[in-house]
Formats: sequence, structure tokens, C-alpha cells
Amino acid sequence: MSFPHGLRIRRARPDEGDRYAAFAVARFRETYDTGYETERLERHIASAFSSTLQRAELEATDRDTLVLASERGWEAFVVLHREVAPPAVVATNPIEIGRFYLHPDWHGRGVAAALMEHCATVARAAGHDALWLCVWEHNGRAQRFYEKAGFVHVGTHPFIFGGIPDDDRLYVRTL
Ligand SMILES: CC(C)(COP(=O)(O)OP(=O)(O)OC[C@H]1O[C@@H](n2cnc3c(N)ncnc32)[C@H](O)[C@@H]1OP(=O)(O)O)[C@@H](O)C(=O)NCCC(=O)NCCS
Repeated sequence: MSFPHGLRIRRARPDEGDRYAAFAVARFRETYDTGYETERLERHIASAFSSTLQRAELEATDRDTLVLASERGWEAFVVLHREVAPPAVVATNPIEIGRFYLHPDWHGRGVAAALMEHCATVARAAGHDALWLCVWEHNGRAQRFYEKAGFVHVGTHPFIFGGIPDDDRLYVRTL
């Protein structure tokens, strides 16, 4: 599949744990620092991101981490996670979109839609019949984007952020 603006898609390599952690932390701070208390956000970041943790994720066999890259480096990443789906996901062989983050330079430019369509194509080819994901209740932009991409809000799902439980919104897209 070809991507807009000359971006290229590939799988992240296990030796990119450092790069993955740094890119993900920057995207998390941008996305959540206006909604969560700084202390809680930093607690979450400390528990979820380090070169060791991301290296382990890149070596894990239950997920594929795809990267959109340009000349300057990583521009977006998405995690296709073969995780047990919550009961509200009615499908035979669903797969989770575990993380979906773009550098802000690409917001609103069609890159996210192309990346999501790539995920749908890859998932279909692997025999999956649905995509599911969780999104923070206050992340209106992501919710609107997922709805435009064909996802339907089917319920809530608990998510621990910085040691405190939240009820994320659960979305499903049948393939
Ligand atoms: C979420 C993300 C992937 C969406 O990609 P995008 O290119 O920004 O999406 P689009 O511009 O195609 O669509 C966003 C829509 O939300 C709307 N929107 C923007 N801010 C909004 C808000 N606060 N509340 C509701 N809708 C909002 C936009 O107007 C647009 O809708 P429209 O096309 O009908 O006008 C991208 O913004 C991103 O990477 N954000 C940071 C990381 C993130 O939040 N990831 C999701 C984690 S679950």
C-alpha cells in the first residue's frame, strides 16, 4: 500500500526500543497533558515506557508494531495486538488496535485514515473479522476519527492510567 506524502510503512525492529519509547512518550504527553494531572500522566509514562519495556514489546509474538516513517524518522505507529477481546466485541476472530499515534504534523492530513485502512487490510488478510480498540472518554478527536473510520461505540472498558482506573470507550469495526 502506498501512503500520502511519501511516508513508508514497516514493522518496528526489536533494536528500536529506545526510539519507540521516546516517540511514544512524546505522543502521550501531547495527547494527555491537558486532560490528566501531570503527576498521574508521568506515573503512567514511567510505568509504560522505557527502552527495555518497548524492546520487550517489539520482541513479543502477540503483537505487531507498525511504523510510518519519513526521512526524519518515525511519524506514526500502531500496534496490532492479538489480545482477548471484551465480551461486547461480537466477532469470531477480532484483533485489538493497541496504540494508534501520529506526530501532530500529520493530524488532519489523511495519514491516519490511510494507516487505519492499512491495518484493516492486514487484519483481514490474517483472517480477522473485526478491529477493536479503547479510547479515553475525553479524547473527542480520536473518537470522531474512529467513527469516520467505521468504528461503532459498543460500551466501556476499564483501563488503569497512572495507577487509577478509568472507563475507556470501547469501539469495534467489523471487517
Ligand atoms: C487520533 C488521530 C489518529 C486522528 O487522526 P487525524 O488525522 O487527526 O483525524 P482526522 O482529522 O481525520 O479526524 C479528526 C476529526 O475529529 C474532529 N475533532 C477535532 N477535535 C475534536 C474534539 N475535541 N472533539 C470532537 N471532534 C474533534 C475533527 O474536526 C475531525 O472531524 P471532521 O473530519 O468531521 O472535521 C490523531 O489526531 C492522533 O494521532 N492524535 C494523537 C494520538 C491519539 O489521540 N491517538 C488515539 C489514542 S486512542
